[in-house]
Amino acid sequence: MKIDDIKRTVNDFKQGAINAIKAEFDGIELHAANGYLLQQFFSKNSNNRTDQYGGNPEDRARILFEILDEIKTVVDLKKVGVRLNPSLDGIMGISVDDETIETYTYIVNKLNEYDLAYIHLIEPFTDVSNNKYAIQEVTKYFRKIYNGTIIINRGFNKDTATKVLEDGDADLVSFGAPFIANPDLVERYKKDAPLNLPNKETFYTPGKEGYIDYPTLN
Ligand SMILES: Cc1cc2nc3c(=O)[nH]c(=O)nc-3n(C[C@H](O)[C@H](O)[C@H](O)COP(=O)(O)O)c2cc1C
Repeated sequence: MKIDDIKRTVNDFKQGAINAIKAEFDGIELHAANGYLLQQFFSKNSNNRTDQYGGNPEDRARILFEILDEIKTVVDLKKVGVRLNPSLDGIMGISVDDETIETYTYIVNKLNEYDLAYIHLIEPFTDVSNNKYAIQEVTKYFRKIYNGTIIINRGFNKDTATKVLEDGDADLVSFGAPFIANPDLVERYKKDAPLNLPNKETFYTPGKEGYIDYPTLN
């Protein structure tokens, strides 16, 4: 991306935020995770820029803060969250590197300066236990750094979600696959009812199948 492309992209995010609020969305989650553009800036393996958008943690994170600075001129940041996947490694085009921890520590510290609705963190998608550069327990690590609301994601069930909340390591837990398979997940958790199992064959496939055809309890 040339500098002009970056400026245009920052403005596109701003316009996206304006559009979402105009369309009466409750809020906006700025997706800075899972190998999408913003994470490509954060990661050394995908960012080899030598200008002010690359080369060190602060510069690699710059675009995120430029976007937030623009969004806050048009939308109350209390309606904005940021999603981060600090230990994404070896998939989605991103690898953990020797500056990953420094980069995300910088990012989350700086996010304290923004009065966001929340940050939405993801525990490692893959086994990173042998990777000395990877944060092993993401929400535990960032709980010590972030002063606002933390949503944690990946691999939780009712019991593990309850535990992470009771331990105070996160404020909220989000569910992906369990929610896809159980449109009434909250109701089922309330009643301790059995869950439908997600069918991985239909993940990431086009069409309705596997998205809107799981049964509710009744
Ligand atoms: C079918 C499917 C599609 C997904 N699509 C996206 C996506 O477009 N963007 C994204 O960031 N994460 C996506 N995810 C990942 C989820 O947001 C979530 O991080 C992941 O499922 C782990 O949470 P879970 O263990 O509760 O399922 C998807 C997950 C599934 C199962």
